[in-house]
Amino acid sequence: MLKKLLYITANSKPEKLSASKTVGRYFVNRFIAKNPDYIVEELDLYTEYIPEINHIIFTKRAEPVSGAEYDKLSEKDKETVNRINALCDQFISADTYVIAAPMWSLSYPSVLKRYIDCIILNDKVIKVSPEEVTGLLDDKERTMVYIQSSGGKYPKLLSGKFNHGIEYFEDLFKFLGIKRFEKILVEGVDDPDIGREKAITKACQDIESIIEKLS
Ligand SMILES: Cc1cc2nc3c(=O)[nH]c(=O)nc-3n(C[C@H](O)[C@H](O)[C@H](O)COP(=O)(O)O)c2cc1C
Repeated sequence: MLKKLLYITANSKPEKLSASKTVGRYFVNRFIAKNPDYIVEELDLYTEYIPEINHIIFTKRAEPVSGAEYDKLSEKDKETVNRINALCDQFISADTYVIAAPMWSLSYPSVLKRYIDCIILNDKVIKVSPEEVTGLLDDKERTMVYIQSSGGKYPKLLSGKFNHGIEYFEDLFKFLGIKRFEKILVEGVDDPDIGREKAITKACQDIESIIEKLS
């Protein structure tokens, strides 16, 4: 059976101008070459509709309204709920995820957080009970690859102090039940001593061994 790689990008730049998207594309192409049992679905968070959650469509934690409450919504709000459910279903349907995003203010662009709030839904991705919240994505082997470009280069020892995006996603996806997490850093894109080309080349060097490990 065919598996699915969901390639999510969080950058408004065209691919050829974006370091994170250049490395992301390289990874996806190499991964597919090695894993022909995969199809690729792409989600560009800057060109596709990623709704903002509000109290009209979410009256409970992590749960868009349904049933009679849904019927009472305006047509526009119904469309928003439908879109949120569709984004969540698309996420669940994948086996491997690749996110390509730049580091912004030590984390990541806000549209990526907006997307995360759309897909973490009760009874689909998490189970919320009065006692605890548990992740439901341990139902099959899933892998997350997070590709982050950054203007600067951060020493490994201080990584936890600066790489809040990576730390957050690693913790979050593990909590959801996604067992394998790999990170690819495209570091020093705006550093005059490194620069875009060297940063991309260095990041791509690590990709073959990561794909080998994942295949
Ligand atoms: C709003 C904004 C915030 C940024 N914050 C940081 C930062 O905190 N640390 C850093 O090293 N680079 C930062 N940068 C630089 C970007 O990370 C860098 O230009 C980007 O990763 C290049 O990759 P791209 O071509 O895919 O956008 C920031 C850039 C912007 C536009």
